[in-house]
Amino acid sequence: MPGSGESLMRIYDLILKKRTGRALSEQEIEHLVAGYTEGSIPDYQMAAFTMAVFFQGLSESETLSLTRAVVNSGQKVNLDHIPGIKVDKHSTGGVGDTTTLVLAPLVAAAGVKVPKLSGRGLGHTGGTLDKLESIPGFNTRLSDTELAEAVNETGVAVVAQGQNLVPADKKLYALRDVTATVDSISLIAASIMAKKLAIGADALVLDVKAGQGAFMKEIEEAFELARIMTAIGRGAGRETAAVISRMDQPLGRAVGNALEIKEAVLALRGEGPADLEKLCLELGGWMVFLGGKAESPDSGGEMLKELIENGAALDKFKTMVKKQGGDLKAINDFSLLPEAEQKILVAADRSGFISSLDALKIGSAVATLGAGRQKKDDPIDPAVGIILEKKLGDPVKAGDGLAVIHARSDSGAELIKFVKNTVHSAYEYSNEPAAARPLICGWIDREGDEHRV
Ligand code: URA
Ligand code: CA
Repeated sequence: MPGSGESLMRIYDLILKKRTGRALSEQEIEHLVAGYTEGSIPDYQMAAFTMAVFFQGLSESETLSLTRAVVNSGQKVNLDHIPGIKVDKHSTGGVGDTTTLVLAPLVAAAGVKVPKLSGRGLGHTGGTLDKLESIPGFNTRLSDTELAEAVNETGVAVVAQGQNLVPADKKLYALRDVTATVDSISLIAASIMAKKLAIGADALVLDVKAGQGAFMKEIEEAFELARIMTAIGRGAGRETAAVISRMDQPLGRAVGNALEIKEAVLALRGEGPADLEKLCLELGGWMVFLGGKAESPDSGGEMLKELIENGAALDKFKTMVKKQGGDLKAINDFSLLPEAEQKILVAADRSGFISSLDALKIGSAVATLGAGRQKKDDPIDPAVGIILEKKLGDPVKAGDGLAVIHARSDSGAELIKFVKNTVHSAYEYSNEPAAARPLICGWIDREGDEHRV
């Protein structure tokens, strides 16, 4: 079979080229991604290629080419029926990250259009969609037409993205997952940005986390990921900025689906946890600025503070819930949200100051309670989760409540004991308060310039 021999030969050359540190052309990358998506390039060749990328990296233009090729592998979401500047955001993930729930209505209250398409979460807690679906009746399955109609009417909608976006990314990610090539910064940047660029927003704000609870453990790595992702955004003609923040403990106090809805409502009323509010004002300020409604990110943040104080932010959230079929009564009266039957206090076993609060352990404890999923179609329990009563730097006395576990009535003693132990092991203590570390590490502006806090 000379034909297939020839094409195998060519893929071989592309792998060799990357393995020896040379740059691939846009056509070569397009060829690889298209062939892999349609199945003419086998897993073993793509695996060798991703491993070569892992060791050699990709140049900025190769990364952009890869991102484009992945975007072109599937359908795109056209938002042209929504007039005005549409702004999207993306978080590189974290534990108890309630920001989208707060930001989407908050930024829409400032007059920016926020059509938010989300995927479903794997792991710790559910994703934003699961959280919203804990509001009785809330419908995230809107068609593109319904999405446009909702955003034109109310400025905001949060919906499930279709299954036909970026098929190349789905295949590549699954391959990377079993070939130890997930944590290549070029591949991560291309993977995330392809998902965002497949959605036709005009501007994008990236929430890039650094720390134990995040993909990037080190702040320098988080800046690098942010630099690459913002360069891809600019290269694709989108206004893009990034905020780099610490995720060395869960954000806010609530980790769990319905628990995070309550936390988001509190934040929209100005009664939320300080760290959640701070990050939302920072990211939201950038969204308002890139959305053309403020002179600077700072003045955007000030605007948002006012919209929280005067009630407009919460009103916008309610309008969104109503438009998407959710029960408004549950927003006014939290007792109508799903509620766990068992509430178990975890008490501190010594006195001191909290010196460490492991976000991953809290995330895994919450997943064990049933709030997250291991596999794509696992059911999740909207009611369960953990409320953190003590966070980094807080003084504690032995016997004080550290956290409250919200568990199902049929969670047996063994499971509760396991979760309790996990929560205990997530907390570490010191005798003196540790120096406070700022939440925000810096940002990358729309020109690509880096600023450190
Ligand atoms: N998140 C993604 O979407 N892709 C990656 O490669 C890593 C994290
Ligand atoms: Ca939270």
